[in-house]
This record gives sequence, structure tokens and C-alpha cells, in this order.
Amino acid sequence: MYADALRSTFPDLDPGVDDLFLLEPHQIAELPERAPSRELAAVLHAHSTVCGFLLRRHPAIEGYLTELLADHGPVAEGELAACEQALVWELADWIAYQRAPEMYDAGAQVDWDLAAVTELVTLDGQVVIDAGAGTGRVALAAAAVARHVYAVEPVATLRRYMRARATRLGLDNLFAVDGFLHAIPLPDASADVLVTCQAIGWELEDELLEIRRVVKPGGTALHLFGASSARDSDNPLLRALVTHGYQPDTYDDGSVVIQRYCLQIGAGPELNRDPVG
Ligand SMILES: C[S@@+](CC[C@H](N)C(=O)[O-])C[C@H]1O[C@@H](n2cnc3c(N)ncnc32)[C@H](O)[C@@H]1O
Repeated sequence: MYADALRSTFPDLDPGVDDLFLLEPHQIAELPERAPSRELAAVLHAHSTVCGFLLRRHPAIEGYLTELLADHGPVAEGELAACEQALVWELADWIAYQRAPEMYDAGAQVDWDLAAVTELVTLDGQVVIDAGAGTGRVALAAAAVARHVYAVEPVATLRRYMRARATRLGLDNLFAVDGFLHAIPLPDASADVLVTCQAIGWELEDELLEIRRVVKPGGTALHLFGASSARDSDNPLLRALVTHGYQPDTYDDGSVVIQRYCLQIGAGPELNRDPVG
């Protein structure tokens, strides 16, 4: 269960049911895949305001919630607290984004080293997009050498956190932009390099099309993953990247291991909107 990993990553977080009011619409849309059904139903039966909040914030969730509440009845009073904890811990990274970005930053899944990028492509004087930028670990490092860095991130708290860090570091070339990888709010052919770190695959086919649109012909797209992903040869996301022409390799400097998937735009097979087989 993801909750176990999150409990050890964020030992001081102490999430509660009221943290569910911090969820963003795109996160509510992901609840069917992320939230344990029985526990979510138990919480919604017991806390009708949370249910109302989710419906208001992301109306398209209504069909799923209606079915969920019909399939799972309320739990006994003595069981409710355990259900609440199981649910909020399963979503604890989203809660950490909102309540404690610095905790998320400290517990990030991938140790980071800009050399993992610059070994493959120079960022000096380049226009770089870091998509799914989180607390800006990649974007801030890139901004030290790049001309401009556009850090695309849908969570407002994380964009604010990133901006504050850029200001403290005296970086005036980092722009934190609201957006998604499948809908990047930047013009065609506007970037030399696009990087993601543990941040691709929500809507992969549309994301790959967006990447080809925003990166200049001859530019580079690079997706980074932690060492555990590197061992997962059955990971359908990683296989799909290879199908789309990305070249896999591993960066290993003795302390940091990063799996990289790199594509020179204009060099891979043309994409279409058919799902990857
Ligand atoms: C696992 S974190 C990685 C953050 C950062 N790249 C790092 O390495 O620390 C994933 C990030 O992607 C953001 N995100 C979620 N859905 C997204 C989407 N559809 N498009 C772009 N970013 C998204 C999350 O808010 C989160 O900040």
C-alpha cells in the first residue's frame, strides 16, 4: 500500500479528515484510482460536508461517488477513526503538497543531481520547461544556468513555495506556471529542453503530444525516475516511453541513481492518439 511508504516519508505530517478540504480538482478526479473504496465511502457517509465539497470542487466525480456510496455502507462507529486514517495516509503526499511543501521537498523520492540532465544535454543559456515541477527541485537547479525556466505545476501552494525559493536564491529567470503536462500553457516550439522528474503518465498520449508541440525541433525531452522505477522492467509507463522513441539509460554517480528516458524531438517515430499496445 502507498500509505505505508508515505507514513515513513512524512512521519511528522499527522493528516486528518479536514485535510481533504485541501484537495484540488485534478486530485479529486484521481480519487477512483488512489483512494481505498471502503474507507473513502466510510468517510463520506460520516462527513457529508466532505462529500459536498468533493462534488462542488469536481462535479464530474458525482457518478463515481454515487456508485461508491451505494456499494459500501457506513461502518460501525468504532471503525470510523481507522478508516479516516487509512484514507488520509493513502493521500498524504497531496496533503503534504498543501500543508508542508518543505516536508515534501525533504522527503522527495528521487535524490537529485543536475548532472543527470547536463550529462545528456546542455542547459546553458537554454529555455527549459520542468513539467510537474513540485517544489522546484529540478527547476531551481536548472535556473542557475538556463536563460529561462518555466516550472509547470498545477498545485498553487507548490508554485508559491517555488517562487519564494527562487526569490531567496536571487533567481529572476524562473517562472512558476499553472498547468498540466497534457495542457502546457506555453506556445509551440518555445523550449529547447523539457524535463520531468517523477512526473509523467497521468494522460500519457496527450502529454507526449504536448511535449512535441512545445519543444523546438532538435530540442530534447528528458524524463527522470528514481532507482526503484529503474528496476521495474514491467512498468507499462517506461515501456510506452521506449515505444515512443525514448532512449533509456541509467545515471549513477555512486550515490545517486536516476533512470533517464531521453528523446531528441524530431528524431522519434511520429505519435498518434491511439493507445499504446
Ligand atoms: C511526484 S511529484 C514530483 C515533483 C518534482 N518533479 C520532483 O522531482 O520533486 C509530481 C508533481 O506533479 C504534479 N502533477 C500532478 N498531476 C500533474 C499533471 N497532470 N501534469 C503536471 N504535473 C502534475 C504534482 O502536483 C506534483 O507536484
